[in-house]
Amino acid sequence: MNQDQLKEAVAKAALDYIHPKLSEDSIIGVGTGSTANYFIDALATIKTSFDGTVASSEATAERLKSHGIPVYELNTVPHLEFYIDGADETNDRLELIKGGGGALTREKIVAAVAQEFVCIVDDTKMVDILGEFPLPIEVLPMARSHVARELVKLGGDPVYREGFVTDNGNIILDIHNMDLSAPISVEERINQITGVVTNGLFACRPANVLLMGTAEGVKTIT
Ligand code: A5P
Repeated sequence: MNQDQLKEAVAKAALDYIHPKLSEDSIIGVGTGSTANYFIDALATIKTSFDGTVASSEATAERLKSHGIPVYELNTVPHLEFYIDGADETNDRLELIKGGGGALTREKIVAAVAQEFVCIVDDTKMVDILGEFPLPIEVLPMARSHVARELVKLGGDPVYREGFVTDNGNIILDIHNMDLSAPISVEERINQITGVVTNGLFACRPANVLLMGTAEGVKTIT
């Protein structure tokens, strides 16, 4: 199986995981990226089994709507049962790096609201220690240089993602070579830098369930 086939398999496994638990009132949070796109396409096959969705990006909202799946604004939703999304890296404690696609802020908000975060990855995303993938940080544009200097003090090498603007009108700094062996404390520390909107560590609120596509089938890790 190639990586795309693993992503498709794990997306279908996520559908099988949530389908029995859905009711006609259910609202599902939907993530962003190529694995999430496979999930959206699978979700379209059961669109009469739930009420609608909340999207973590404009791209995801467009794809959901193209399938005729209702997309609600998060503030209008009383209860979000599931959040389904991919990740750029995960460890075995289900702490994640996310934001490779730049949607980390809305992803983190939807994950925070959801009762259960089901993360869907292929097995190339599993690592012993997070940080080989550069950690994305969404930053208010006027704070870019200040935040970059503060990140250097924390031991990282921030790189400006040239030409990229988030759905919220902000910029992304990707931090290379950062020690993320204690991800909760790093997540909290970066959040304290003035001008940071969101960092891509999902350690304070890790996933609840990890579905991981492997050549031997989809593994469930909790
Ligand atoms: C989007 O901002 C990211 O958090 C994605 O969830 C992450 O980059 C995974 O993307 P793929 O499923 O395309 O690998």
